[in-house]
Amino acid sequence: MKVFISGGAGQIGSHVAELHLARGDQVLAIDNFDTGRRIHLPEDAKGLTFVEGTISDQALIDQLVGDFKPDVIVHTAASYKDPETGIPTC
Ligand SMILES: NC(=O)c1ccc[n+]([C@@H]2O[C@H](COP(=O)([O-])OP(=O)(O)OC[C@H]3O[C@@H](n4cnc5c(N)ncnc54)[C@H](O)[C@@H]3O)[C@@H](O)[C@H]2O)c1
Repeated sequence: MKVFISGGAGQIGSHVAELHLARGDQVLAIDNFDTGRRIHLPEDAKGLTFVEGTISDQALIDQLVGDFKPDVIVHTAASYKDPETGIPTC
């Protein structure tokens, strides 16, 4: 299965990515590192493609989704934590 994950370097997105990679799925993750960190995802995981970018870039998302053709999209990108502390602000 092909899985597109927004916010893939975040708390929820990185765990979703790891679960799918463990199943042998192909994962395309995007994150702008607002509150996520690249270290949350394995560096050389088979089946993982990571893109640094924002989901508000519609042309980028259209291109990635059009090329990857995911079976599912898991949207976990969010902005509710203080980027400095990682503590929820709401
Ligand atoms: N963490 C929890 O326990 C929990 C529980 C229930 C629901 N949720 C929900 O799950 C979602 C994700 O929460 P989280 O804890 O993983 O947050 P998080 O901050 O750890 O992850 C969100 C990720 O989205 C990225 N991001 C933000 N704006 C982006 C953009 N424009 N483009 C690309 N990436 C962007 C951030 O860099 C970060 O990596 C939220 O909607 C949250 O309400 C979280």
